[in-house]
Amino acid sequence: MAKEAAGMTEETEYMIDRQVSKEADTAAESSGDAKEMRAVILSGFGGLNKLRVSRKPMPEPQEGEVKIRVKACGLNFLDLMVRQGAIENLPKPPLVPGFECSGIVESVGENTEGFEIGDRVMAFVNYNAWAEVVCTPAVLVHKIPDEMTFAEAAAFSLNFVAAYMMLFEVANLRDGMSVLVHSAGGGVGQAVAQLCSTVPNVTVFGIASCFKHTAIRDSVTHLFDRNADYTQEVKRDITCDVKYKCAKKPCFSSLSFAILCYLSLLFLMFVFLSGASNTVTGETKSFFSFAKSWWQVEKVNPIKLYEENKVIAGFSLLNLLFKQGRCSLVKSVMDKLLCLYNQKKIKPVVDSLWALEEVKEAMQRIHDRGNIGKLILDVEKTPTPLMASDSTETSETGEEEEEPEGDNDSKERMPFIH
Ligand SMILES: NC(=O)c1ccc[n+]([C@@H]2O[C@H](COP(=O)([O-])OP(=O)(O)OC[C@H]3O[C@@H](n4cnc5c(N)ncnc54)[C@H](OP(=O)(O)O)[C@@H]3O)[C@@H](O)[C@H]2O)c1
Repeated sequence: MAKEAAGMTEETEYMIDRQVSKEADTAAESSGDAKEMRAVILSGFGGLNKLRVSRKPMPEPQEGEVKIRVKACGLNFLDLMVRQGAIENLPKPPLVPGFECSGIVESVGENTEGFEIGDRVMAFVNYNAWAEVVCTPAVLVHKIPDEMTFAEAAAFSLNFVAAYMMLFEVANLRDGMSVLVHSAGGGVGQAVAQLCSTVPNVTVFGIASCFKHTAIRDSVTHLFDRNADYTQEVKRDITCDVKYKCAKKPCFSSLSFAILCYLSLLFLMFVFLSGASNTVTGETKSFFSFAKSWWQVEKVNPIKLYEENKVIAGFSLLNLLFKQGRCSLVKSVMDKLLCLYNQKKIKPVVDSLWALEEVKEAMQRIHDRGNIGKLILDVEKTPTPLMASDSTETSETGEEEEEPEGDNDSKERMPFIH
């Protein structure tokens, strides 16, 4: 009996200890003293099974950096390509994906000017955005307006800055031009459509999967199904005085996002602006798709460009920010965009919010072409329970456990549709 009582006391003490340490952890977390944080880890390049939530050491801001308590992160098509190992200059895994986030400034490093603890901000990050806490150089951080939600802010930076720079810095969009937007219902596509509406008489040809047409019809002038042969219709709709040779359809379809700008009298500009979405054909990288895509892109003779008054341009926001160090140019663009936001001329379209633990399902939604607007990882959202057993648990040890591919086939979570 005495032994039993002693045992119970030990057990009770143990429980109290656990409770105290749990409360201490919670207190430390809320006071910002926690030494660890949750983050999405990509353990290797490949399928969805390479992603999981794990605990990582909390980063501390270095000189010139801002430490942000993250509220929301943007999930882009680019992140699918990172996961597959399908873009250049990738860091070695394991890595934390993500190029943008929004949140609250928790502290600043030495010699960091312009930010105070408690500021609401959005930021570009060179990977590592999909975490509870992020440190990034102050030149990549921007304050957000009071009325902008954290989800909107996480949907704003990459999409609108990329769209703005492609339209106005690269393509020099002006009154009366025409713009062809692939994936018009996507995050960048909707940003392009909204920015086009800030210039008079711009015709926007949008290409998107059929089921999105009702939702996005008002954002473009003409809308085509992505499987239709829209090339002829686009040509017909542009009443041009100069004869121009439009890119062949295979070339169009090889672009995830292209802009065709037509200047009514003088010349035609075809701006090859991004991506190779068509190289993402399955859950993992396909060398066949890469080769096919490369082969299908029309080869260009520079002399012909001169003769036909055409321009081909390339643009990479990530390289501009992280390789070429053009942060001040991006800052000036961000200032203009925030003016447009404050004037209610533009507003990010948020497709759905997902918990960090739901990152696989969120990515699957893009793979399935299901999104209209931007997908957001909401750091504070509780994951919706899976229908079958949940395999995306947080690994307390931080060890990466491999899962067989396709194990999520029978499990589904419903997103929070914004
Ligand atoms: N150059 C830059 O600096 C820069 C910056 C940001 C983004 N980008 C590029 O801009 C494009 C749009 O980016 P985003 O983040 O806004 O993505 P997003 O458009 O939201 O991406 C999803 C949509 O892309 C379309 N899509 C095209 N090919 C696809 C494929 N193979 N698999 C699944 N969906 C496919 C689908 O729409 P439909 O079925 O309706 O066509 C899908 O709903 C991407 O190619 C991205 O790499 C470039």
